[in-house]
Amino acid sequence: MPIKYISHVPNTVQGQAVLDNVVRTRRILKYRDNERVFDRIKRGLPLYEVDKIESVGNNPKNLVIRGECLSACAYLKDKGIKVDLVYIDPPFASGADYAKKVYIRRNPKLAEKIAKAEEQLDLAELRAFEEKMYGDIWNKEDYLNWMYENLVAIKSIMNDTASIYVHLDWHIGHYVKILMDEVFGEDNFLNEIVWFYRSGGASKEGSIARKHDAIYFFKKNENFKINTIYERQYLENPFMGSKQDENGKFYVDTILTDTINGIVNRVLPDGKIIEYNTRPVLNLSTERLDYNTQKPEGLLNILIEIASKKGMIVADFFGGSGVTAKVAHDLKRNFIHVDVGLNSIQTVRDRLKLAQAEFDIFDVKDGVALFRNPIQTMDKLKTLIPGLHNQEDLNSFWIGALNNSKLGLVPVYIPNLLDHSTKVLDMPFMNRILNEAMPDLPENIKQVIIYYIDIDDENQLKNFIKEYNNTNINIELRDLKIVLDEVVLNDYLEYELNHTEIICTKFISDRLMQKIDEYNQKKVLSFNKKLLFENNSDRKHENSIDAQNLESELNDDAVSEKKLNKKNYTPIEISEHGLELIEMISLDCTNTDGIWQSDFEIKIDKNSFVCVNGKKTKEFWNGKISYKKKPFRLKVRNIAGDETIINII
Ligand SMILES: C[S@@+](CC[C@H](N)C(=O)[O-])C[C@H]1O[C@@H](n2cnc3c(N)ncnc32)[C@H](O)[C@@H]1O
Repeated sequence: MPIKYISHVPNTVQGQAVLDNVVRTRRILKYRDNERVFDRIKRGLPLYEVDKIESVGNNPKNLVIRGECLSACAYLKDKGIKVDLVYIDPPFASGADYAKKVYIRRNPKLAEKIAKAEEQLDLAELRAFEEKMYGDIWNKEDYLNWMYENLVAIKSIMNDTASIYVHLDWHIGHYVKILMDEVFGEDNFLNEIVWFYRSGGASKEGSIARKHDAIYFFKKNENFKINTIYERQYLENPFMGSKQDENGKFYVDTILTDTINGIVNRVLPDGKIIEYNTRPVLNLSTERLDYNTQKPEGLLNILIEIASKKGMIVADFFGGSGVTAKVAHDLKRNFIHVDVGLNSIQTVRDRLKLAQAEFDIFDVKDGVALFRNPIQTMDKLKTLIPGLHNQEDLNSFWIGALNNSKLGLVPVYIPNLLDHSTKVLDMPFMNRILNEAMPDLPENIKQVIIYYIDIDDENQLKNFIKEYNNTNINIELRDLKIVLDEVVLNDYLEYELNHTEIICTKFISDRLMQKIDEYNQKKVLSFNKKLLFENNSDRKHENSIDAQNLESELNDDAVSEKKLNKKNYTPIEISEHGLELIEMISLDCTNTDGIWQSDFEIKIDKNSFVCVNGKKTKEFWNGKISYKKKPFRLKVRNIAGDETIINII
């Protein structure tokens, strides 16, 4: 349950946006007969407890917040923090389910033996597997409802002089433009910026290649001033109006945003001239962080420079790899990075640390953090409720059932953490349960369990159930957060300590080993299927239809294995000491509990090179971490991002 709801009267602007399925009531968009968005906005933004979990340096104006956009807006509003520029690149409704590649690091014992730091890595050793990161599968109406709530919340914490970029593409962009007309006003529309890219979006039969994203740019109101940036464009031949620099070279001053050929020569404050691309692409060698959908720094450079000034606050509520925060820091702005996934928070933390930024990290206590993101939490939820099993004869509302010796079968409902609208158990939702889910239950059911993340007013809700439950079935309400909180998932590190360093000797992560086992099993299975198919074809299988079916079933796996160009799948094996599963070790020599202060740290990158205290090296990790001050606590992060804190005695 949020601590409270923060009122934010959605101050929408009279717009001309008309969609057939949109009715405007009390200046709030309402889709068909969907009252739920309206009810939620009327109730206010959900303010949860927010814990500061780490300080990196000392700049409390720069914030990294793990939590949903809406709850982060509630927190900022409650603290009276307003922002000057917003860039968001929300999930695109692209129908994709994004995954993160997890890289097994070089075995440090092996590294010791090889002791040739510059040696190229053996690719076979760079074993990787994937795990789900965040989902991007929506139906349009849900997406637009969700986006509308987010835009209204974001607007409520924008300064009067602020502006906003919303980065989308052909999937949903044009609909969101209409929402923005409604929320910000058509008169405040500044431009639709096209970010064109060369790779991706290949043409499909019957269509032409889709090779651009659209960025909708709105100001909050008349007080916004654009930052006109002049760039020096050098010319081969002079023309009227061109000037000459001290070396006799001809140039013209163009406004950055007017540049049409994509390349301008930018003059840096020290007089150095660099080539600057106004059609930015991701610099793979210096920028890529293996974060799906990562945008180039060059793009954010232009956007932030145009719409903000030094010292202003630039916020990104769907921050991902942290491109906005990083560029804002480079351009001497303050930043607020928000993302619901822990992987994003870890990626941006390390990225900003490398960039020497100082910031505080906060965690919104909304119950979805346990498994690092809502998708993985959802995947695991079923296994966390002892005795829960699938029960085919129940309709899909019920996730399964428990067997109770006295009550018999007890159906269980769990809210969908991926859909924040189902997280709050309130009277309208209970009404639906009573009228839609309960009457369908088999006659012998005596009790059901309804889990919730948030509950509106428990007593009121219980009275409501008493009054309107027309069945003989008892409804038990349970807090899902208690289930989540009770789960302790720690990794285990064995180490030796001397006066200057910690020597790691063994690392065990059951949760990671489980993922690796699952991955190995899947791979072995697909190889066995392939072998079976090859044997069958060798024997000139009599029933060619069977062979064809098997072939198409194997198609995906076979193609990917061909790519690997290997005859056999060698399962990922982890050494006995398991140190190759460690991504980071941080030592806190300041605090014995509470907010983490990383005084010394090493991070092992995906190529197994170590970063020592935010500085990259070309060394492989030797299993040790040095310190100059006695540490109280040690934090170890495994390669999938799970963190464990260990007190040093
Ligand atoms: C398209 S990615 C952003 C990529 C980013 N611009 C970059 O360059 O790395 C969208 C991000 O939104 C996050 N996200 C999804 N739903 C969210 C929500 N309700 N609140 C905050 N973040 C959310 C996802 O975890 C993901 O990192």
